Amino acid sequence: MSEAVPVPLWLFGYGSLIYKVDFPYLQRQPAQIHGWVRRFWQGSHDHRGTPQAPGRVVTLVAQAEAVCRGMAYRITPDVFAHLDHREKNGYVREVVEFCFDDGSRVDGVVYVANPGNEAFLGAASEGEIARHIAASAGPSGANSEYLFKLAEALRELGSEDAHVFAIERELRTLVASA
Ligand code: SIN
Repeated sequence: MSEAVPVPLWLFGYGSLIYKVDFPYLQRQPAQIHGWVRRFWQGSHDHRGTPQAPGRVVTLVAQAEAVCRGMAYRITPDVFAHLDHREKNGYVREVVEFCFDDGSRVDGVVYVANPGNEAFLGAASEGEIARHIAASAGPSGANSEYLFKLAEALRELGSEDAHVFAIERELRTLVASA
């Protein structure tokens, strides 16, 4: 966990934190972070899978020149009690710079699941990831629901996320042929 919490306190969501907003916030606006890509490389033991059969959810992977679009929320520090519990399966808080659509910038907090955490699964082809997601479910529901809701939310944000949209195409084919 990062010790220094920037004030005012902004949180950047790039996965389920975009579309499942089960926490209070003071303000919300689209934003992007530079130098990171969204990847379905993190295992989920507690939301979209189980410890015996983990699902796949997103994390951020450092990549020069990359831009990751998401949603920024201005929150109060007490909200971390809920968020740290929700994101407990391998994610740690990092401080990164966000860029808002008007060009202004602010430092804020993002949850990242780094390689080496016990639930990390790592790279796989988009076809393999789609097959994995199609077969997974956990206490928060089907893994496919996580993917489809994220893809829809990214389209609404105007994000061109080739990785997520390629998995979505593969998954729709699998679901249609099931
Ligand atoms: C996030 O949404 O920012 C973190 C990953 C997730 O909860 O899906």
